[in-house]
Amino acid sequence: MPRIAIVFLTFLAGVASRRNKVLLVSMDGFRWDYVSSVPTPNLDRLAGIGTRADYINNTFCTKTFPSHFSVATGLYEESHGIIGNVMYDPVFNETFNPKTMDSKWWNGGEPIWITAVKQGLKSATYFWPGSEAEIRGLRPTLYKKYANVDIRVQIDNVTDWLKGDIDLAVMYSPQPDKAGHTYGPSAPELKEKVQEVDLAVGFLLDKLEEKNLSSKVNLVLTSDHGMTEIDFQKKRIEISSLVNLSDIIRKSDKGPLMHITPVEGKLESVYQALSKSDKMTVYKKEEIPEFWHYKNNRRVMPILCVADEGWSVVWDKDDLINKTDRGNHGYDNRLSSMKPIFYAAGPDIRKNYTTPPFLSVDIYSLLCSLLDIDQASNNGSYERVRNFVVKQGKTAGLSNDSGRLSISSIMALVIVLLFSFVCKKS
Ligand SMILES: *[C@@H]1O[C@H](CO)[C@@H](O)[C@H](O)[C@H]1NC(C)=O
Ligand SMILES: *[C@@H]1O[C@H](CO)[C@@H](O)[C@H](O)[C@H]1NC(C)=O
Ligand SMILES: *[C@@H]1O[C@H](CO)[C@@H](O)[C@H](O)[C@H]1NC(C)=O
Ligand SMILES: *[C@@H]1O[C@H](CO)[C@@H](O)[C@H](O)[C@H]1NC(C)=O
Ligand SMILES: *[C@@H]1O[C@H](CO)[C@@H](O)[C@H](O)[C@H]1NC(C)=O
Ligand SMILES: *[C@@H]1O[C@H](CO)[C@@H](O)[C@H](O)[C@H]1NC(C)=O
Ligand SMILES: *[C@@H]1O[C@H](CO)[C@@H](O)[C@H](O)[C@H]1NC(C)=O
Ligand SMILES: *[C@@H]1O[C@H](CO)[C@@H](O)[C@H](O)[C@H]1NC(C)=O
Repeated sequence: MPRIAIVFLTFLAGVASRRNKVLLVSMDGFRWDYVSSVPTPNLDRLAGIGTRADYINNTFCTKTFPSHFSVATGLYEESHGIIGNVMYDPVFNETFNPKTMDSKWWNGGEPIWITAVKQGLKSATYFWPGSEAEIRGLRPTLYKKYANVDIRVQIDNVTDWLKGDIDLAVMYSPQPDKAGHTYGPSAPELKEKVQEVDLAVGFLLDKLEEKNLSSKVNLVLTSDHGMTEIDFQKKRIEISSLVNLSDIIRKSDKGPLMHITPVEGKLESVYQALSKSDKMTVYKKEEIPEFWHYKNNRRVMPILCVADEGWSVVWDKDDLINKTDRGNHGYDNRLSSMKPIFYAAGPDIRKNYTTPPFLSVDIYSLLCSLLDIDQASNNGSYERVRNFVVKQGKTAGLSNDSGRLSISSIMALVIVLLFSFVCKKS
């Protein structure tokens, strides 16, 4: 008798715990091939217990806010609307910067932490672009205001949350991006920082094990973009040397790309003048390549200048002239140097496996599947990631079966109740 009861209870527990938890981590600016320039034993350990890709393809432009919001929403920039770290919106007649939390800028996309709370799960964020904004009227169950925090404190806290009742935890770390900007992607200082980040990955894997989360939490670790060598002194394209600056009424961003709005009637002449530079490609808005999925947004200005790799578009001879950064990103997402890393491991992830590269917009769909929740409409494809999802005892593929899940839970509960009733009687 007790043995049968145990079988039933195990069955019930199995049904009730069918949904595993998810931890999404981003290491800003972790270029896909850093791992081949310096030993990263902890990322190797992660690869051994899970799946890795050599790289994934991110979205354009390859900047922190746009790329992270594409990961979180599964949408291209033109659809989620965060088309730069800085931007101007002609309807709002306002500019956006990374500190802007006003919902109206963010409502274009539904990030995973909102998709989760909408469907009754609990989500918590320890930094991520957009995580401090109310989006479509909702917020994560728990979120933190951006600050300078030791990554180990973050890891300790997010794993505690997952040990508690949080279903989805999201975490962002500003390294190794900062070191990449300061020293450049090939510098010894960058390599040191990458090893430091790798040690933090080891700390994370240890914490997951210590807190008995390894069999319950699917970890997805990625980054937003890569990094390339720049030279603000020697590789600069000065707009003032190409056009009369009074022909331009507005500009936004600089470095790898610059948005420009010419004064009325000057579009053609400004476009022609800028096009004389052989170190950047100048697009009229409607000519921006379709494959960037970037142009169909009002925040993209009539002219977009995209610098060649390593070059910087600046306003005039003083602009950025004394800035000593050796690395930058934001360039064409087809460039190898712009591509991010991808790792995943957990109960529903294939072990010791290398997946073919896929797109950063597919990650949203992956997360929804791991969490067994319905996705908001997005530009990703679950087909490109399903090869490394191994959900035991679950229907493979898109799991929009939460209805069926709860019915089977209720049935199991009824069976157990009936059974214990019979036990008591006898
Ligand atoms: C936009 O805002 C600026 C001040 O920030 C103001 O001078 C300008 O008139 C506004 N433009 C429109 C069209 O409202
Ligand atoms: C986060 O972790 C640190 C120790 O690493 C601890 O002192 C702090 O109380 C934790 N905070 C939360 C909110 O859990
Ligand atoms: C993890 O599980 C082991 C064995 O099942 C147990 O001894 C230990 O106390 C658990 N640790 C935590 C933090 O729950
Ligand atoms: C730039 O344009 C302004 C206004 O059209 C004009 O006054 C000025 O002379 C021009 N400067 C040069 C260097 O052509
Ligand atoms: C750049 O540095 C030089 C030398 O220190 C200085 O003379 C110049 O004014 C600086 N330029 C700008 C734009 O800050
Ligand atoms: C990723 O981008 C490269 C170009 O950088 C392209 O050749 C490749 O086909 C892309 N992969 C996928 C899965 O789209
Ligand atoms: C992982 O796979 C490789 C071959 O692809 C094999 O040599 C290695 O032993 C495997 N490691 C583990 C931990 O299974
Ligand atoms: C991306 O998804 C959004 C939302 O479903 C859709 O409006 C847009 O057309 C999609 N973009 C592409 C290129 O398919």
